[in-house]
Amino acid sequence: MTRMLDVKGLTAGYGSVQILYGVDLYVDKGEFVTIIGPNGCGKSTFIKALFGIATYYDGEVSYDGESIEKLRTDQLVNKGIAYVPQVNNVFPTLSVEENLQMGGNSLSNKVLKERIERALNMFPDLRSREHDLAASLSGGERQMLAISRALISDPSFLLLDEPTAALSPLYQQQIIERIDNLRKEGITVLIVEQNARLSLARSDRGYIFANGKVVHTGDADFILNDPEIGEYFLGSHDD
Ligand SMILES: Nc1ncnc2c1ncn2[C@@H]1O[C@H](COP(=O)(O)OP(=O)(O)OP(=O)(O)O)[C@@H](O)[C@H]1O
Ligand SMILES: [Mg+2]
Repeated sequence: MTRMLDVKGLTAGYGSVQILYGVDLYVDKGEFVTIIGPNGCGKSTFIKALFGIATYYDGEVSYDGESIEKLRTDQLVNKGIAYVPQVNNVFPTLSVEENLQMGGNSLSNKVLKERIERALNMFPDLRSREHDLAASLSGGERQMLAISRALISDPSFLLLDEPTAALSPLYQQQIIERIDNLRKEGITVLIVEQNARLSLARSDRGYIFANGKVVHTGDADFILNDPEIGEYFLGSHDD
C-alpha cells in the first residue's frame, strides 16, 4: 500500500485559538477513510487545516511522500487534492453549469468540457438541471453538485465534510454510494460523517475525534462492531 496522506502531531486552530492537539492520521492510496466525532470536536478544522484554510501551528503533513503543510490551497489543488466544504459549497445564484465551470477556472475550454461531461456521468441527476440555478436544487442535488464541482480539478484525493448532512435517508444512501463509486474509479477518499454507520459500512478504516484529538482508530468493521464505541459514538442502530 502506498501512503497517500500522512499526518503526524498536527496542531492547528483559528488564529490564536487552538482546536487540534496533536492529530495522527494516515490514508493509503485507494482507501475510503471516515472521521466521526461529536459536534465541535474539530473534524472540520482538521480537514480545513489539511487544505490550508485553518491556521497550521505544528506537526508533519505529507502527501504522496512530500511535505505539504506550508502549501497554499491552489498548490494543493494542483497536487490533486480537492475539498468539498460542509456548508456554502455551491454558488446558489449561478446555474449548475456555471458552478461546474467555476471548478475549473484555469483549464482550457476543451478540457473543461470533458471534465464537466465526466462529472455529469458520475451524477446524471444533474444533467437535466444544467441550466437551472443551484438555488433551485434539492439538498441532495446540491451535494451532488458540490462533489461534481470538486471533480472538475481531476483530483486523486477527495476531502469531504459531511456530504449527507440534513438529507433524506434515500439521498444519504445515494451520496455515499456515489462516493464509493468514485473510490472504485481510483480516487482516495477522506470523509467526515455524522451518519457514521452509513459511511463506515463503505470504509476501510475510521477515526474517532473528541476534543481536538483522535480517541479511537481502527478497521471500519472493528469500529462498527465494538459495543463501547457504538454506544458513545455511532448512535442507535435504527438511525
Ligand atoms: N472560523 C473559526 N474561528 C474560530 N473558531 C472556530 C471557527 N470555526 C470553528 N471554530 C470553533 O472550532 C471548534 C471546532 O469546530 P469544527 O467546525 O472543527 O467542529 P466539527 O467537529 O466539524 O463540528 P460539527 O460536527 O458541528 O461540524 C468549535 O469550538 C468551533 O466553534
Ligand atoms: Mg464540521
